[in-house]
Amino acid sequence: MKITVIGAGNMARGIATRALAGGHTVTITAKDADKAVRLADELREQNHGDGPVGAADDLAVDDADIVILAVPFEAAKQLAASYGARLNGKVLVDISNPVDTSLDALVVAPGTSAAEQIAAAAPPQARVVKAFNTTFATTLAAGEVHGTPLDVFIAGDDEAARRKVADLVRSGGLNPVDVGALKHARELEGFQLLHMALQIREGGHGWASTIKIIAS
Ligand SMILES: NC(=O)c1ccc[n+]([C@@H]2O[C@H](COP(=O)([O-])OP(=O)(O)OC[C@H]3O[C@@H](n4cnc5c(N)ncnc54)[C@H](OP(=O)(O)O)[C@@H]3O)[C@@H](O)[C@H]2O)c1
Repeated sequence: MKITVIGAGNMARGIATRALAGGHTVTITAKDADKAVRLADELREQNHGDGPVGAADDLAVDDADIVILAVPFEAAKQLAASYGARLNGKVLVDISNPVDTSLDALVVAPGTSAAEQIAAAAPPQARVVKAFNTTFATTLAAGEVHGTPLDVFIAGDDEAARRKVADLVRSGGLNPVDVGALKHARELEGFQLLHMALQIREGGHGWASTIKIIAS
C-alpha cells in the first residue's frame, strides 16, 4: 500500500519504520520540508524494507491509500480541515493523545474524543480511523516489548478502513485489535492517558511499556 505520513517527529519515524518493514511504500511530508527529507534519508540509510522512502510535498496525500496524521491533536484537526476534499475516500489515521501537559486529564470533553473531532473537521467521505495512540514511539522501532508484538487498537466507523489499517499493522509485525466504532476512541484515549501518567511516576516504565491484551 501507499502510506503517507504527515509529520517528521518520533511517531512518524516509528510508524514509517513498521510500514517499511511491512513492504509498503512510504512518503513522509511535513510543514518543514527539510525535516521530512532528513527523516526520509535516515530511514533509507537504515534500509528498512525494500520500498522507497520519498519526502514529497503535501501532494503526497493525493496518491495515498492511507494517510497518517503524525502531529499533535490540534494540528491534526487543522490539517484534516485544510486538506478538505483531497481526503475524500482516504483512510485517515488519527494517532493523537489529547492530554494536558501534566498528564492529569484529557483536553477533550467527556462524550467525545480527538478522533471524533478530527472526523468532524475532515470531509464527510474521509474514513477516519484511530490507531497507534497506545504504542510509544520508542517501542515501534522494534515493534515489540519483551519479545511480544505490540497490540495496536483500531477504532473507526468504516469496517473496510479498519481492515486496511489492520493489514498495515499486521504486515509490520504488530498485532491489530479491532475495537469497533470510532466512538471507542474515547476509551483508547482515556486508557492511554493513564499509561502516559504511569511513565512519569517513580518506578515508571521509561516510555518503553505497551498496553496488551493477553488471552489463553
Ligand atoms: N511520542 C509517542 O510515544 C506517542 C505515542 C502515541 C501517540 N502519539 C501522538 O503522536 C502525535 C505525534 O507525536 P510525536 O511524539 O511524534 O511528536 P513530535 O516528535 O513532536 O513530532 C510532531 C510532528 O508534528 C509536526 N507539527 C507540530 N505542529 C504542527 C502543525 N501545526 N502543523 C503541521 N505539523 C505540525 C512537527 O513539526 P515541527 O517539528 O516542524 O514542529 C513534527 O513533525 C501526537 O498527536 C501524539 O499525541 C505520540
